[in-house]
Amino acid sequence: MVEQLQQMLEDFKTGIEKVQSLPDMAQFKAEYLGKKGRLKGLMAGMRDLSPEERSSFGAKANEAKQFMEKLIQEQSTRIELEEINSRLDKEWQDISWTDRLKDKGQQAAGLHPLSSVMRGLEDIFLSMGFDILDGPHIEDEYHNFEALNIPANHPARDMQDTFWFQDKKHLLRTHTSNIQIRGMEQHKPPFKFVGPGKVFRSEALDASHEAAFHQLEGMMVGKDISVSHMIHFLRTLLSEIFQKEIKVRLRPGFFPFVEPGFELDYECLLCGGTGCSVCKQVGWVEALGCGMVHPNVLKAGNIDPREWNGFAFGLGVDRLTMMRYHIDDVRHIHSGDLLFSQQFKAY
Ligand code: PHE
Repeated sequence: MVEQLQQMLEDFKTGIEKVQSLPDMAQFKAEYLGKKGRLKGLMAGMRDLSPEERSSFGAKANEAKQFMEKLIQEQSTRIELEEINSRLDKEWQDISWTDRLKDKGQQAAGLHPLSSVMRGLEDIFLSMGFDILDGPHIEDEYHNFEALNIPANHPARDMQDTFWFQDKKHLLRTHTSNIQIRGMEQHKPPFKFVGPGKVFRSEALDASHEAAFHQLEGMMVGKDISVSHMIHFLRTLLSEIFQKEIKVRLRPGFFPFVEPGFELDYECLLCGGTGCSVCKQVGWVEALGCGMVHPNVLKAGNIDPREWNGFAFGLGVDRLTMMRYHIDDVRHIHSGDLLFSQQFKAY
């Protein structure tokens, strides 16, 4: 009987190698370990053994049972894994646009460089705890000018050539500074937010001027905010976007909604400061206007200027994109030309 048990184990070992599916495995298991299986059959013969033989055979049979159960378990797991993997191989589908377009003989364009820079900017400010706000392109006089300390007939209205609607009350916003006012209407201080978007000016077009372009407005209001806070955020912004230290200079600048006001320039990265069409041959590029928020602006936002103060800035995103990607004409940015945008990888 011991020999029969040995034989059964040998048969089992060669047999299990041939089993390739889970249903076959269930059948194989029944053949050896089932109620009418070979092991049960052998054990039935134990009746005829002497008590000593019976207990020694019983122990062996038990060992064999455990051995077979373990092996069946291991092999089943292996088969199951193989079945899953082969289904994954067969049933896998590419749901990305890129490949589906390729099937149709079309190609996906890259992310537009301006969108990449915008997203990069938003990420930088989000990581510094700023909210991101939106504002309307079609704006009223109040939010674009009046609340920003630019009353009617103020010469500053002529600084920006405005596209007016026929009702003479609405306009295409000339800057994202309207988001300062709209932001203050929604938030109580302290707060800090940025507002990216398109702006419109009726300007003569050239390599660095477009009638529609992009800005990112920023505003931070709190207690005892200083110019050095502002410089900190602006420096961080530029070095993050360009991934290196950038030479900057601060000049006094006039904007009715800030006092004091500044313009921040950085060295032109296209010509390295020697002069080109983008920097108008001066070697420096205007990056942004900025300054400490004028008390009248805070008042327009229902914020008490004796208690709160802050800074604001308006960054030109098109030129920043040109510097980041070495694009020498702003008109490429708005060309809608796929050959242009396909050259760029996501930020
Ligand atoms: N709105 C200004 C412009 O369009 C930029 C600016 C924003 C300046 C905020 C100071 C503070 O040029």
